[in-house]
Amino acid sequence: MTQVTARNFFSRPLRALSTAVLALAAGAVIAHGDVTPQAVDTSSLKQVGKEWLTKNPYLGNKEAIRIGDSAFNQNCARCHGLGAVSGGIAPDLRYLPAGQEGDEIFLQRIRHGATRDGRVYMPPFEGILSQEAMWTIRAWLETVRED
Ligand code: HEC
Repeated sequence: MTQVTARNFFSRPLRALSTAVLALAAGAVIAHGDVTPQAVDTSSLKQVGKEWLTKNPYLGNKEAIRIGDSAFNQNCARCHGLGAVSGGIAPDLRYLPAGQEGDEIFLQRIRHGATRDGRVYMPPFEGILSQEAMWTIRAWLETVRED
C-alpha cells in the first residue's frame, strides 16, 4: 500500500494547478501580442489595384462595411477595443476625422504602424492586409464615427 505522505498528497493538485497557471499565462501572452493576423476575404468587392489610393473607394458600401466590421474585430480590436470603443490602450478610432482627411491618417497608420524608441506600439499591416481589406475597415469605422 502506498503511504500517503504530506509530499505526495500535495504534489498532484499542485502540479495540476501550476499547469493551469502556465496555460493561463501563455494565453495572456497570445491575447496581447502575437495574434496571427486574420486573412480578410474581399473577393466580393471591386478590387482596387496596386496604386495606393488617397481616398476610401468603399465609403458607404454595405458589403465593404460588413467585411470591415469583422476585419476590425479580428485585427484591431485587441488594442483599439470592441466596436472601436477604446479601453485606453490605444487611440479611440471613432474620433478619426471624416472623409479624406481621416482616410489619409488611417492609411498612413495602418500601413506603417507606430514605433517609437524601438518599441512597437502598433504593428505595420502593409503586406499583411490587402489594400482592399484596409479600406473595408475604414468604411466600417466611418459608420461608428463620433464628432
Ligand atoms: C498592438 C496594438 C495595436 C493593434 C493590433 C492595432 N493598433 Fe492602431 N494603434 C495602436 C497604438 C498604441 C496607437 C497610437 C500610436 C502612437 O501614439 O504613436 C495606434 C494608432 C492608430 C491610428 C492613428 C490614430 C490617431 O488618432 O492618430 C490608427 C488609424 C490605427 N491605429 C488603426 C489601426 C487599425 C485599423 C488596426 C487594425 C488593422 C490597428 N490600428 C491595430 C495600437 C494598435
